Amino acid sequence: MASTPTALRGLPLLDDLGPIDGARVLVRTDFNVPLARGLDGELEVADDFRVRAALPTIEALRAGGAHVVCCSHLGRPSGPDDPTGSMAPVRRVLERLCPGVELLENLRFDPGEQANDPAFVDRLVEGFDAYVNDAFSVAHRAHASVVGPPARLPSAAGLRLEREVEVLAGLLEDPPRPFVAVLGGAKVTDKLGVTAAVARVADAVLVGGGMAFTFLAAEGRAVGASLLDESRLEGCRTLLARSDRVRLPSDVVALSPGQPFGPGCTDGEVAVFEGDLPDGWVGLDVGPATAAAFAEALRGAATILWNGPMGVFEDERFAAGTVAVARATATSRAFSVVGGGDSEHALERAGLAKDVSFVSTGGGAMLAFLEHGDLPALAALRRAPNATKDGT
Ligand code: 3PG
Ligand code: MG
Repeated sequence: MASTPTALRGLPLLDDLGPIDGARVLVRTDFNVPLARGLDGELEVADDFRVRAALPTIEALRAGGAHVVCCSHLGRPSGPDDPTGSMAPVRRVLERLCPGVELLENLRFDPGEQANDPAFVDRLVEGFDAYVNDAFSVAHRAHASVVGPPARLPSAAGLRLEREVEVLAGLLEDPPRPFVAVLGGAKVTDKLGVTAAVARVADAVLVGGGMAFTFLAAEGRAVGASLLDESRLEGCRTLLARSDRVRLPSDVVALSPGQPFGPGCTDGEVAVFEGDLPDGWVGLDVGPATAAAFAEALRGAATILWNGPMGVFEDERFAAGTVAVARATATSRAFSVVGGGDSEHALERAGLAKDVSFVSTGGGAMLAFLEHGDLPALAALRRAPNATKDGT
């Protein structure tokens, strides 16, 4: 039988709160959801995935007789007057999905949240008997509402947080093999550490997206005017020298010099290159040979991890690589884990999200967990007064 994943050991769970009948429980959720303007011009929740993900925990607490009050941040508001920070749209969704649950105003309206100000934590927990963290996607932030309350109240990880940690720890500790990871997205700066960490446990790490060009340049390929982070060239070179599991695109789809790209753009010439990119050309997707090779590797996998698009998929001309990875992931029989807003979005657009084994609510948090094996939110919960100290 599989043993308890390391990151779950010592983590207080809902049962460790003891009786909660009549207790006032503060639940940190991550309702940092995408908003869009509806037909009437009002801001509305464009994707309620993160709200739905928190419902089992809220319902379990209420079934135990607790009075639940949720708190969350929303976006990165400039201050309490910033209308894009108002929780009103989220409140409407929450009221529809789970009537009667209270939701505090945007935590980031107070600078004490991001500064992890102890006085703000004191104000936040006042009047509560217990704290539950179900906000995996913000678990990498040592913010007041994430790391503060467990030092003051009996605390627990919510059901969703527990499941996220279990799934991701499983990838690091005991993945059915072959384990194939696909990493993409624009910025190699954010991804180099996690690429190295995943390369230590996965059988293959397929790299695409903007981040691939710094790796390609590190191998001595000309990348034209594609995204390139000179400061990471050495890091990429070191990783490629140390690991034979990192696989780079063998061909790329590029756009001719100086042309715009993005949703609806059509100008310029689009071509596939197998070797060097000519001066000024911008690589914006993996090529057809790479897409086919990546899909083939995914078909043979028993475990799949996918984070980050293979190209600028919002522009139809550069969507094929991401769509190929989405399809191969969804149709595979592997245990598949997908995280990050863009990958999720690509899956949704292709109608494939339901065919993935586990869609993480986290992007940055998922990468941070995979890189470090732990997160500030989890460490804080393990230090809660009701946590068992024996590590079981
Ligand atoms: C997220 O969506 O990544 C989390 O809610 C954290 O938000 P942040 O990146 O603004 O800290
Ligand atoms: Mg983020």
